[in-house]
Amino acid sequence: MPRVAIETRNITKRFGTFTALDGMSMCIEKGVIFGLLGANGAGKSTLIKILCGLLTPTSGDAFVGGVSVNTNPEEVKKRIGYMSQKFSLYEDLTVFENIRFFGGVYGLSNTEIRKQLDIIAEMAGLKGQENRLTGELSGGLKQRLALGCAVIHNPGIVFLDEPTGGVDPVARRNFWALINDLSAKGTTVIITTHYLDEAEYCNRILLMHAGKNIAEGSPGELKTTHIKNNLYEIECTPLMEGLSLLRNRDWTGGISVFGNLLHLNSRPGSDPATIRLFLENNGVQVVRMEEIIPSLEDVFISLIEEKTKGAGEGAVK
Ligand SMILES: Nc1ncnc2c1ncn2[C@@H]1O[C@H](COP(=O)(O)OP(=O)(O)OP(=O)(O)O)[C@@H](O)[C@H]1O
Ligand SMILES: [Mg+2]
Repeated sequence: MPRVAIETRNITKRFGTFTALDGMSMCIEKGVIFGLLGANGAGKSTLIKILCGLLTPTSGDAFVGGVSVNTNPEEVKKRIGYMSQKFSLYEDLTVFENIRFFGGVYGLSNTEIRKQLDIIAEMAGLKGQENRLTGELSGGLKQRLALGCAVIHNPGIVFLDEPTGGVDPVARRNFWALINDLSAKGTTVIITTHYLDEAEYCNRILLMHAGKNIAEGSPGELKTTHIKNNLYEIECTPLMEGLSLLRNRDWTGGISVFGNLLHLNSRPGSDPATIRLFLENNGVQVVRMEEIIPSLEDVFISLIEEKTKGAGEGAVK
C-alpha cells in the first residue's frame, strides 16, 4: 500500500502576469493532519483548488491518491472532500436537504444518503434538528454540518480551507475533535488556518510565502530548526522605543511585537544583562525580561521576517 496521499511536483500557477504558486513541491503521507499556513495571499487556497481538480496548474503536476490533477481531474474529485473558505451550505435549505443535496452531488444512492443522514446529524450535534433551516444554525453548528457534508462519500482525503474562521473557541475545539476522529479513521486531512494554536494540533505543517514552500516539519521540528538561539520576552515602556532600540543590533536575530510585549530572537553569545542595561541606559524601563520557549507564532514571524527583510515587522495576518 503506498503511504503517499498527495504529491505535488513543481506546481506553478499564474493569473495573468501574477505568480500565485511558484514551483511548489511537497509530499503528504496518508492519514496525517497536514496544516498549510501562510499570510493572506500566500497561495494556500490556490494550491487547495488545484489539488481538488478545480483549477489547472500553469505548469507542474500533482497526484492526489495517485491520480494526476492534469490528466484526470474528474477522478481526483471523486477521491476527495472539500470544504471551501466560504460557507458551502445552502442557508435556505434545511439540514436534511443540505445533506441530501451533497449526497446527490457525490453520487450517493437514496439509501446511502438516508444512512449518512443519521451519521452526519450525530457528528454535527444536530440529531433531531434535521428539519431546521440551515441559516438559523450557529456558526459552530454550520461548520460541523459543512464538514459532515464534505465527507458524506467517505473520501480518503479531505481539504478544509479555513474551516474555523469566525467561530468561538469552544466551537473550534469541538470541530477539532471531529478532525481528529477523521484522522483516526485513516482520512488524510489538509487544513488551512490563521490560528497558530490550531496549527499545533497538526502532525505536519507547511509554511507558504509568496507561492513558495519556505518551511516544513512537525510543530516541534519547526521550533527547534528555525529558532536555535535564546528567545526573550521583554516587557518594557515605552514599548515602541524598545523596539526601535533593539532593531539592527548585533545581538538581534529578530524582533517582533507580541501584544504589549517584545520577543527578541537573540544571536549566539548575547548576554541578557547587557541587553537590559542597554535599554535602561537609553531611557526604556525594563519591567521584565525572561527566556521563553518559542511558539509557532515566533517561528512563523521569524521565517516571514527573513523572507521580507527590510520590510518591517512580520505580520501574522
Ligand atoms: N482567479 C484569480 N485571479 C487573479 N488572482 C488571483 C485569483 N485567485 C487568486 N489570486 C491571487 O493569488 C494570490 C493567492 O491567493 P490565495 O487565495 O491562494 O491566497 P491564500 O493564501 O488562500 O490567502 P487567504 O489567507 O487570504 O485566504 C492572491 O494574491 C490572490 O489575489
Ligand atoms: Mg485562502
